[in-house]
Amino acid sequence: MKPNNDLAIVILAAGKGTRLKSSLAKVLHPAGGRSLVEQVLRSCAPLKARKTIVVVGHQADRVTAVAEPLGAQSVLQHPQNGTGHAMLVARRALGNAKFAIVLPGDAPLIRTTTLQALLAAHHSANASATILTAVLADPSGYGRILRKSGSTVAAIVEESQLRDDQREINEINSSIYCFTLQKLWPALAQVKPNNKHREIYLTDAVAAMAAQGETVLAQIAADSREVLGCNTRADLAAVDRIFREAKREALMSEGVSIQLPETVLIDPEVTAGEDTLLEPGVQLLGTTKIGARCVIRTGSVLADAVLGDDVTVEAHSVVAQSRLDSDVIIGPFARLRGGTHLKSGARIGNFVEVKNSTVGEGTKAMHLTYLGDAKIGSKTNIGAGTITCNYDGFHKHPTTIGNRVFIGSDSILVAPVRVGDNAYVAAGSTITENVPPEALGIARGRQVNKPKWAAKKRRELAAAEKSRKPSKKPRKNSRAKKRR
Ligand code: UD1
Ligand code: MG
Repeated sequence: MKPNNDLAIVILAAGKGTRLKSSLAKVLHPAGGRSLVEQVLRSCAPLKARKTIVVVGHQADRVTAVAEPLGAQSVLQHPQNGTGHAMLVARRALGNAKFAIVLPGDAPLIRTTTLQALLAAHHSANASATILTAVLADPSGYGRILRKSGSTVAAIVEESQLRDDQREINEINSSIYCFTLQKLWPALAQVKPNNKHREIYLTDAVAAMAAQGETVLAQIAADSREVLGCNTRADLAAVDRIFREAKREALMSEGVSIQLPETVLIDPEVTAGEDTLLEPGVQLLGTTKIGARCVIRTGSVLADAVLGDDVTVEAHSVVAQSRLDSDVIIGPFARLRGGTHLKSGARIGNFVEVKNSTVGEGTKAMHLTYLGDAKIGSKTNIGAGTITCNYDGFHKHPTTIGNRVFIGSDSILVAPVRVGDNAYVAAGSTITENVPPEALGIARGRQVNKPKWAAKKRRELAAAEKSRKPSKKPRKNSRAKKRR
């Protein structure tokens, strides 16, 4: 799309969001894997407006920190005296723009194409204001549209100011508008804070324009779900559900199978290849990228993970900031933490934790193991219960294990330490010195067997028990009871 030099975008994002009962400003709450204000900014970006203004107030710094990297300029509204007041505060920053699309920061489902259609309708009717409206089965909580005739609007009546005969109106104000700015400012100047919150409502400027005979249009959104605002936690959940459903459908249309899709949560940037299967209760978060023909079994959570093709993640595994090359199998109950790289064909089994480590081709660590800051070659076997002691209370130290090494079960590798290619470590060893290539490292107490020791011990114990037993006289019942 061409840059639109007459157009500015204004996103109203200064409010606290009292109805959320939260210490976090409303527009910073997430839905569909991104903050509300980020979702709105992303929908506006393709319009290529000359300027995008975000009106900030509550937690202004934090909202600005989200908005600025996305190309917006923030303007501070303090105190927050209503949506109309927010526009007045933004006025100077709008510069020479002739038109503005105004959006609330709490309606994140709006799509670019809908905004383009709104702008086109505004221009083709040469309107002063065009309001995006929606017809809802349950319009409660929203301002209602009072139509003048056909396509034009007389006023917007806020929920709190509805007369009884207006409650039935189910066409609502989305709070998304297109304004011709030279018509908006004089109308806004007339608006008084005539409501119980003593705020200047942008909705009242619409009525003022209509009263002056300006053309105020209403354009009904094709999909009413796009205008849903998030005023409550229930609204957030409803909107999140819609985003998630759309993401799952997008992946399914690209050839990914999802079982019980409504139980699977996928962030917006996640990708997955053809014939990959996601079982129920899977979460794919952040920048996770999954290849073709992978299987992610039930209950697994992958965040910022990169998987090659034909990878299997067995049930209830947790993977963060890790790379799994093709044909890797992990889990069930595996945990991969940041900086892990499993090379092709590696296997990480149940109750194995791996952090900041490289595991070579075909290497296996199948049971009850911790590998931290380790570099492990190919075709090596890490026995059950192996632990790299990478931390001395002050610093982290590396463990280096070569190719075709056999680490016996229950071994402790005290880092920094190296085990050379083709070496063996005997089960139960505590390795504190390097093991050279081809060597056997064994570091444990030597076993001593004492012949007949057990039988002798049993005889002694039995004799001691006999001499402690009281005489045959039966115990009084009452005393026995008391003891219990
Ligand atoms: C608003 C509309 C209502 C519409 C609904 C759609 C008004 C008076 N009402 O009601 O007609 O049906 O949106 O969702 O406009 N904000 C500021 N500064 C302020 C006050 C609010 O920036 O001083 C921002 C908020 O952060 C929010 C947006 O404006 O992102 C809308 O405010 P909100 O309090 O959610 O208005 P609603 O009651 O939803
Ligand atoms: Mg709202």
